[in-house]
Amino acid sequence: MLDLEDVLAARDRVAATARHTPLEYSHTFSSLTGADVHLKLETFQRTGSFKIRGATNRIATLSDAEREAGVVTASAGNHAQGVALAATRIGVDSVIVMPEYAPIAKVEATRSYGAEVVLHGEDYDAAAERAHEIEREQGRTYVHAFDDDAVMAGQGTIGLEIYEDLPEVETVVVPVGGGGLISGIATALKGKNEDIRVVGVQAAGAASLAQSLEKGEVVEREGVDTIADGIATRKVGERTFDVIEERVDEVVTVEDSEIAVALTTLLERSKTLVEGAGAAPLAALLFDRFEFAEDETVVPALCGGNIDMNVLTTVIVRGLIETGRYLRVRTVLADRPGALQRLVDIVADHDANIHAIEHDRAGGDIGMSDAEVELDLETKGHDHVERLLSALREAGYTVDVLV
Ligand SMILES: Cc1ncc(COP(=O)(O)O)c(C=O)c1O
Repeated sequence: MLDLEDVLAARDRVAATARHTPLEYSHTFSSLTGADVHLKLETFQRTGSFKIRGATNRIATLSDAEREAGVVTASAGNHAQGVALAATRIGVDSVIVMPEYAPIAKVEATRSYGAEVVLHGEDYDAAAERAHEIEREQGRTYVHAFDDDAVMAGQGTIGLEIYEDLPEVETVVVPVGGGGLISGIATALKGKNEDIRVVGVQAAGAASLAQSLEKGEVVEREGVDTIADGIATRKVGERTFDVIEERVDEVVTVEDSEIAVALTTLLERSKTLVEGAGAAPLAALLFDRFEFAEDETVVPALCGGNIDMNVLTTVIVRGLIETGRYLRVRTVLADRPGALQRLVDIVADHDANIHAIEHDRAGGDIGMSDAEVELDLETKGHDHVERLLSALREAGYTVDVLV
């Protein structure tokens, strides 16, 4: 099994390409949680995520003949960019198969790092199948996204950096997709100090690890459903599972709504943009998904910042709704002059700002003499929302709160 020596060796190979990313104390999250919180800002890594570390270590350990033949992989996300840049830096040719739906920004970024991008199939599985065909046809080496010792060791260099910058660290919180990242980090940290606690975080809609640990073997989910695409994985790897079983102390899950709150809080308070998977460890901390002592030194690993701008818009609205800063309601009015005015007056009297308003007189499920109104409102927190909803209901409106 992978050990500390492998991660130390990886660090020498990775150092010329990957940045040693900052570890910063956070006043905001320390005061919100009571812990002594330091953020590992891997979101500032080259290519925007940690994937460059594992890919560089894997490609750097290829034989001369393997380098000559080039590498291939399949990915819709961060791994594509990591392999593309790692290969180019080492002087190895790369082919990355991406699903046809892959966001154009990611396709362009991957090409810009020097890879040949092949768009194939409707989903990741179809792209992976094509990548394995290319592996066989062209004799290229397939760079696995997580279930590979060299990849895990490369990701583990994050653990070495955390330990070097903050040797008194007590708990490190890491998102889990296929498990390569946490396997590497846990190996590095436990190798340095057995007492450092490593907590894994999965999205509730993509959680399979807790069940796998309970059963003692890898369990695969039927499907996944989460905004955190970096950890939207149906199962962990076989090799990563063995490492996790031995070295990870705890595994917890977070809801998408909690990820949205963590992401928007980080953006608003710390001016730092992460993607859903990157926000998951912070969500686990903010929502007390694991126990920690007052002033415990906790490091959430914010592992990536590659979020699609359209997804970001949705996540911000969701985060604001969850924190009472945005309210979407639907109600029904009599369809006559002045009815809308009366509703809007109550909203104004309670100091809520109207962001959008939709007035529909011909909806299918309302009476002929009624009109349906949807309001999007900027609000000032949960108490403000409650006061406004009570005022509307007291005035006789039936109000549905929309999510
Ligand atoms: C930003 C981010 N965080 C976490 C992960 C999970 O890493 P792993 O699959 O090694 O568990 C990924 C994987 O793509 C990712 O992109």
